[in-house]
This record gives sequence, C-alpha cells and structure tokens, in this order.
Amino acid sequence: MYHRIHHRKPSISLRYIEATIGLFDDQGSPRPKSLFTLTIPKRMISSNNRETHNARWFEQLTTYRQRVAERSPPVVAGKLSRMVGLTLEAVGCRAPIGARCVVSTATGKRVEAEVVGFSGERLFLMPTGNIQGLEPGCRVTPLSHGSTVPVGMNLLGRVIDGSGKPLDGKGPVISDHKVSLTGAIINPLTRKPIHAPLDVGVRAINALLTVGRGQRLGLFAGTGVGKSMLLGMMTRYTSADVVVVGLIGERGREVNEFVQKILGEEGRRRAVVVASPADYPPLMRLHGAMLATSIAEFFRNEGLNVLLLMDSLSRFAQAQREIALAIDEPPATNGYPPSVFAKIPQLVERAGNGDEEGGSITAFYTVLAEGDDTNDPVADAARGILDGHIVLSRTLADSGHYPAIDIEASVSRVMTDIVDARHLASARKLKQVYSLYQQNRDLISVGAYQRGADPRIDEAINLNPDIMNFLRQNVEEAIDFPRSITELTQLIR
Ligand SMILES: Nc1ncnc2c1ncn2[C@@H]1O[C@H](COP(=O)(O)OP(=O)(O)O)[C@@H](O)[C@H]1O
Ligand SMILES: [Mg+2]
Repeated sequence: MYHRIHHRKPSISLRYIEATIGLFDDQGSPRPKSLFTLTIPKRMISSNNRETHNARWFEQLTTYRQRVAERSPPVVAGKLSRMVGLTLEAVGCRAPIGARCVVSTATGKRVEAEVVGFSGERLFLMPTGNIQGLEPGCRVTPLSHGSTVPVGMNLLGRVIDGSGKPLDGKGPVISDHKVSLTGAIINPLTRKPIHAPLDVGVRAINALLTVGRGQRLGLFAGTGVGKSMLLGMMTRYTSADVVVVGLIGERGREVNEFVQKILGEEGRRRAVVVASPADYPPLMRLHGAMLATSIAEFFRNEGLNVLLLMDSLSRFAQAQREIALAIDEPPATNGYPPSVFAKIPQLVERAGNGDEEGGSITAFYTVLAEGDDTNDPVADAARGILDGHIVLSRTLADSGHYPAIDIEASVSRVMTDIVDARHLASARKLKQVYSLYQQNRDLISVGAYQRGADPRIDEAINLNPDIMNFLRQNVEEAIDFPRSITELTQLIR
C-alpha cells in the first residue's frame, strides 16, 4: 500500500505540543485514521534532566522511524502536462515502468494508463482506454497494484478482452487467482524437455510436422489463406486439455466470426478467447497477447496440457512499434524499433514446458508473411526463436487445397525426438516423393516426361493423387494422431 505522509501544522497548547502524521489513500483522499500523533508534554522540554529528555526523544523517534520505514513509499499524485499522439506526459509524480496510474478529470472521468517510459521528471504513459475528455492538468495518481489479472477455471468458455473484461455478455468473470501479466521467468535448466507428441487433429501436421507438447511453432501465411480456419480446426480437434486463443489486432468482424462460426459452441467449451481487436489502443493489444499467455500459464501450473493459439504475433509486434515510436524510440529495422525484437522473445519464451510437475503450453503464433517475402523483420525474428514453422501457401489455397500447408517449406524441429523410427522414415519418404513430383510437375503436366525413364518419378506420379488426398482435410473432419500415422504408413510402405 502506498501512503502519502502529511504533516499537519503542530498545534501548540499550554501543556502539549502535538504533531499529527496522517495518511492518504491510493486515490489521494485523506484517511480517517491517523498513523500516530506525537504528544510531547511541555514539562519534559523544560526538564532540567536533559539526558533523560534526549534519551526519551531518541527512543520515541526510533520507534516512529521504524514505523515509517515499514510503510510503502508515499504516493504523490501528479498532473497531466502534455499529450501528443497516443502518449500522455505527467509531471509531479513518480512511478516505475509498468506501473498503472489513474488519470482523472474534474468531471470525474477516469482513464487507466500504464507507465511506458520517462525522461527526467516526466513520465510517459499509454492509456488503456478511451482518452476522450482528458485535459491539461488532470490529476494522475499512481495505483498501488501493478498489472495483475484475475484468472481461474471459470474462464473456460468465456470471451474476454485484453484487460480481462467479458465481451460475451455472460456476466462478470469471477476468478479466485491473480497473476502478473508479465509472467514468471522459467529457469531453462528446469524446463521439462519435449518428449511427447500433441495430437492437433490435423492429419498433415500430425503425420508430417508432428508437434511436441511444449513446442512453439510459427504459422506463416499471408492474409486469407486459411490461418483462422486451421487454428479453429486445432481448437476443436486437439487432445490438449485447454485451448487459449489470443486474437490480437484482428478486425472486430473476424473476432466475431472466429468465435461464432469457426469455434462454435462445442469448441468454446474448453477454450478461453482473449480478443483485442485492431481498434483497441496499442497497449491493450499488447496486454491481450500477454493476458492470453498468463491464462495459459495458469492452466499449465494446474498441471494441464494447454494449446495456446496467438493470432497474430505480427500485430503484437506492430502494437509495440506504435508504443515505442510514440515515446520517441528511434526506428531501426524496417521501421521497427529495437524494443519490438526484445518483446517478441519475452512473450514467446513464456510458452513451452514448465518444470517437472507442471503441464505444458504448446503454442502456435501466426506471422503475416507473403510466401517468399524474406524481408519482414518480424518473420525473421520469429523464425529464429520458434521451434518450427508451418507455412501456408497461397498457390495451394487458390487451387482449393485446404489446409494449404506447404510441406516442403514447413518444418517441426522437435519431430525427430518425439516420433518412432518407422513414422519418421515414412514422413521423410512422403516429403521426398512429394518434392520430386513438384520439381518435375511442369514436365509431367505437358506430357514431356516419358514413363519408365526414371522409376522414382514413376513412383511419384503414381503416389501423387493419394498424397494430395492425404494432405487435404475437410474442416468438419477430425483426424486423430493414431489414424494419421496409420494412414501415412499405409500410403508409404
Ligand atoms: N480448410 C478450409 N476449407 C475450405 N475453405 C477454407 C479452408 N480454410 C480457409 N478456407 C477459405 O479461405 C478463406 C479465408 O480463410 P481464413 O482462415 O479466414 O484466412 P486467414 O485467417 O488466413 O485470413 C475462408 O473464408 C474460406 O473460404
Ligand atoms: Mg484470420
């Protein structure tokens, strides 16, 4: 708790000198009870025995000093001095980075903001809500509680925003635990290694790009090639205990479509959706991604296997870019300030396995990238820190091949550690056969290839229709892990 220590003018009566030290609460209003009152009998001061007098003073002051030291530092309210673009500037108050403040107007409007930087005596704040109506001189009061969010089992089935408020009209979310938005750092040496596969219910992924429990993957694709549909399929068909979906920076319409159509009533039952659409302030979009991760961490700590789907990491990076540029951080790579590339690993590293007792967070982060666009620094950064990537191809999507997974360009870096030798051999063989067909596709399709010229190409031609069927999957159909493997090994002997 933060308190402002307030010295009232000492009242001097004939017999006593009285000094009261009072308290202010977080909002700056005086508290009814005073901390303590010093009452010094005048006769003590006039006492001849100076030593006794000094000793008593010393004793009393020591006790009071201790009491003061036990209190949290005082909170001093400041005022709003400037606002440019999205950034609020406050003077006259002190608060650490990440602290929350309330900006209140004379008319009683209150807007929460978070400290995102400082310069000398000035604090830079980012609002988490609508800033309409703020004016110069508004009171800025740092809040004692940091960014903690309520979490609990009853989040299942709910749709909330980046601040934890319900969006689904099903009443308030009553939660028993509070966790930090930034999460706790896991010692890399105590993390459980990835050793078991997670069934995601999608045949091409289960069989050829096997996902491990605790693995973090990127889903790289341009717009409109089926990312949301694929995430929806995984949400409905995965064997994970809980699915947490972060919809960050999407259009509002897409959020609704995902929740109502793609997820449906059945998919929502064991899912939590955190949505911070594009029209939310950038801080709320950052918080949306962080909150989704905090919720996943909560379920992992409960010993559950969690599937975390974050759509999209690119929009998360863009939100951090907006904030960083607004507080004058210089842009570096393609307009992205360096802090963006610090935030991405901070978010992604929170997923994965916990220590031995805990559950796991298997995570998919979608990254907006058009096929061969290798210039996007966010895609580059993501590739570097994730344990695999699944690339969706526009060419496949355009030809009606769904899910449009480009199996040549995709890789799961943990697959070799978690599947048996036969499965691995079949998956490699299928990829080779598929690649060989693709390399010779033009020749084959114009009839320039003579059958019998190369037995490997003959085999590729024979297997191609079955392989294409194997890779395609209807949205309504769930294909579990054992069935995926059986079908793979039947196809490739
Ligand atoms: N598995 C699928 N089966 C059939 N159509 C699909 C499938 N995945 C995507 N589509 C088509 O592609 C469109 C865009 O998909 P969507 O998942 O919204 O893309 P993104 O999220 O990448 O923008 C859908 O409206 C749908 O018509
Ligand atoms: Mg989408």
